Amino acid sequence: MYDLNKFDEIEDCIRWYPCNISKIDQEVVFGPKTVSLYVHIPFCRGGCFFCPFNRYIYDDKVVDEYLGALELEIKLINKRVNIKNLKISTIWIGGGTPSDLLPEQIDRIFTILEDNFNYKNIEIIFEGIADGSSFNSEKVKILKKHKVNKISLGVQSLNEHYVRNILKRRHHALDAKKTISFLKSKFFINTDFMYYLPGQNIADLEKDILEITSTNINHITFFPFMEIENTPIPGLIKKGKLPKKAGKKTYFAMYKKLLSIMHSKGYYEYTPYHFAKKGKEIQYNINRWGFPQKDILGLGAGAFSFFNETSYTNVHLVDEYIKCVKKNKIPILAGKRANDLEKITRCIVLGSKLFEINKTKFNEITGIDIDKYFKNEIKDLVKKGLIINLKNKFKLTTFGKAFSNEVSKTFYTKENKGFRQPVGADFRRR
Ligand SMILES: C[S@@+](CC[C@H](N)C(=O)[O-])C[C@H]1O[C@@H](n2cnc3c(N)ncnc32)[C@H](O)[C@@H]1O
Ligand code: SF4
Repeated sequence: MYDLNKFDEIEDCIRWYPCNISKIDQEVVFGPKTVSLYVHIPFCRGGCFFCPFNRYIYDDKVVDEYLGALELEIKLINKRVNIKNLKISTIWIGGGTPSDLLPEQIDRIFTILEDNFNYKNIEIIFEGIADGSSFNSEKVKILKKHKVNKISLGVQSLNEHYVRNILKRRHHALDAKKTISFLKSKFFINTDFMYYLPGQNIADLEKDILEITSTNINHITFFPFMEIENTPIPGLIKKGKLPKKAGKKTYFAMYKKLLSIMHSKGYYEYTPYHFAKKGKEIQYNINRWGFPQKDILGLGAGAFSFFNETSYTNVHLVDEYIKCVKKNKIPILAGKRANDLEKITRCIVLGSKLFEINKTKFNEITGIDIDKYFKNEIKDLVKKGLIINLKNKFKLTTFGKAFSNEVSKTFYTKENKGFRQPVGADFRRR
């Protein structure tokens, strides 16, 4: 009954695993963790109906108090992890509209970061609105003093009809053009646009693309417009007060038009949303999506993080956030620690946003043969025309790039299926 010939001789007492050890750099063991820092500034000098982000109307005193709380939050985190030891590779100051703050408030944000974190010569992105007045020479001087090198500008459209009648922005299309030309020679510029807007057709989109590419800026983002629950827009469309979006077929035609004009103007897409001149990509986007994805430490009310294998978000309401840190509590509102399968699938769910998954790299990181483990998922995506499966990688087709969420969702674990992305609008009510 016992076939001892099949067993090894008793010469091992198994107590270390993995045991396939070989030469290793000490940095792997003791090197600092690379993180992206995100700082949320949840204030704007006006609100937009389409916006799902955690943001409130600007109030001088509240902002001052908020910045004090932000510093307290950082000190609280520092009691748990030595943040001076983090290797900060990129910083995004987002919102809301950080450019709406006063010059001295902007100065204070950076002083807080410089006092508490160690970083030098890295990408620092500051977000703002292209409304013709939010940025001025004084703010530019402060941003330069703190080594900000990239500005991400909300433009949305350069067509007055969409800016005013559909999106009901607080500025005119001409103001956006003024802001771009004011900042263009001073910083690397990204502009955010939205397309597939209610009532928008391909010719309208084409005009926007031609106009923005003619500025020759380094980086342009095009987000397909989303009707997000808990924002006023879906209700207005339902009541017939705004036109409906044109449907997925038109969306795909728009996406193809976007690709073809952007290519002809010297930009290429490195995510479904982000277009850059070669070598002018935004590192923050690559760290967030490219696998193995880097941690993001989010600070401020409603900031989202992925840190120490956990997705979590901070308390959203500003007064509750301030109260929480004043009680010496790190202001985490909700989160989920990734289990082993979520860690594996996260590589693909997010990684496919950079359009291809290298199978060797995936195997090195997860120990998994992707073709065997995800055989059915890959077969299904090929059949749907979303990916091409090659020997060493799978890559998204143009159709797959346009509908990249379909690719990502195919790899969701059972527990994640059916969940949509959490957004500020879900949490900013009492
Ligand atoms: C923090 S927001 C806005 C930046 C700046 N406050 C502004 O309004 O110009 C970042 C970007 O998200 C995008 N965005 C906001 N709401 C959206 C929606 N409903 N659908 C798609 N993109 C959206 C916009 O392009 C926006 O510029
Ligand atoms: S789109 Fe920009 S300005 Fe408008 S509410 Fe959202 S963050 Fe504020």
